[in-house]
Amino acid sequence: MADEFILARGNGRTIPQEDKIFGISNRAKAAIREKGADAVVNGTIGALLDDEGKLIVLESVDEVFHQLSKTDYAEYAPIGGIAPFREAVQKAAFGNHAPEGFKEAVATPGGTGSLRNVISNYSSFGDRVLTSDWHWAPYNTIAGEIGRSIATFTLFDENRGFNAASFAEESARLLQEQESLVIILNTPAHNPTGYSLTLEDWDKVIASLCEEAKSGKPITLLIDAAYIDFAGDEDEYREFLPKLSALPENVLCVMAYSLSKTYTLYGARCGAMICIAKTQAIADEFKRVCEFSSRGSWSNSAKLGQMILSRVYEDPQLLARVDEERAMYRNMLIARGTAFSEAAAKAGLAIVPFDAGFFVSVPCADPDALSRKLEEKDVFLVPLKLGIRVSVASVSEEKCRRLPAIIKAAMDELGM
Ligand SMILES: Cc1ncc(COP(=O)(O)O)c(C=O)c1O
Repeated sequence: MADEFILARGNGRTIPQEDKIFGISNRAKAAIREKGADAVVNGTIGALLDDEGKLIVLESVDEVFHQLSKTDYAEYAPIGGIAPFREAVQKAAFGNHAPEGFKEAVATPGGTGSLRNVISNYSSFGDRVLTSDWHWAPYNTIAGEIGRSIATFTLFDENRGFNAASFAEESARLLQEQESLVIILNTPAHNPTGYSLTLEDWDKVIASLCEEAKSGKPITLLIDAAYIDFAGDEDEYREFLPKLSALPENVLCVMAYSLSKTYTLYGARCGAMICIAKTQAIADEFKRVCEFSSRGSWSNSAKLGQMILSRVYEDPQLLARVDEERAMYRNMLIARGTAFSEAAAKAGLAIVPFDAGFFVSVPCADPDALSRKLEEKDVFLVPLKLGIRVSVASVSEEKCRRLPAIIKAAMDELGM
């Protein structure tokens, strides 16, 4: 470890020479250059692409961007975000299902910024942050960069449902070991499985948090809603939100909301952390500590996305256009996911319980070996700890239909 760095300080971190996903993605691009796009499957990209592999950008959002004045995007925004954005982003996040409680929104650079600052303000140095065993790998980096680490519960039980018992057990264990607990639930349309917690799952989560809250220790439930508008009907997938009002005072809910996918503004780095607190004092504290941390990490967030969302929510017709356009692409995405799961069933390929979203995962014993074998067949997928991840967001429906048989054949060749 000591001689791993030349001048840099390791500070206990494991820093790979090359980001695994970018490495695979670069090899996929090279294969496409050499053999043509039709011959290659690049299922590594976490962005919605059309069937030709081009990034989808909502036209309605792009039009708003082109109508902005220079100061609209070039000026500094206040640390916590411009006032119309702070209001609009709550409407965007909660839709018709705003939970009761005291709410405050603080602008962040994407959902990532929300995750970082909620962890830094609601856990202590050295704490473990709880999330599911299948999870977005950067949670480890985000927590590790600020001296925390990730602990996991088992996401699925033997009936392929949400493992509420494991959730309860691991949260209770961590609360015994530390003075506070941050829990991240990425739902709906979880990355990397595509699972969405059902209303019954939510009842169980809330019941167990109410139980844990009797310890009197602060608990923060951080809902990573990066894919909330790509799961299905916007209203239906927000029905769980009012349930959060049942949580007691020492459980703070925060939604990490992102404009990256929902408004196809990935590179504009815009999102918000939105709290749902039981008292005004807790909400005010949230705003104060999160703005303070923002100042010390990225200062203010980019104004561009904040302006775009504010304009969209000022104009009901424009909002309807954005929603309609997104719904069209969401249907395309859902069709791809359905094609993949149907073909997996036909090919006898076991996948994790999938509901919707950008990704589907295939559990396997040696994900790195499977991913290498698939590369030989010009199929590029991301190996995770527990399986391999397929981005249906970046692969055409036709390829989604073909892929499961190819993966199954590779697994058979490897004797998996
Ligand atoms: C599960 C999950 N959470 C959060 C994010 C944050 O994205 P961003 O910071 O671009 O908003 C992503 C992006 O890929 C994600 O997959």
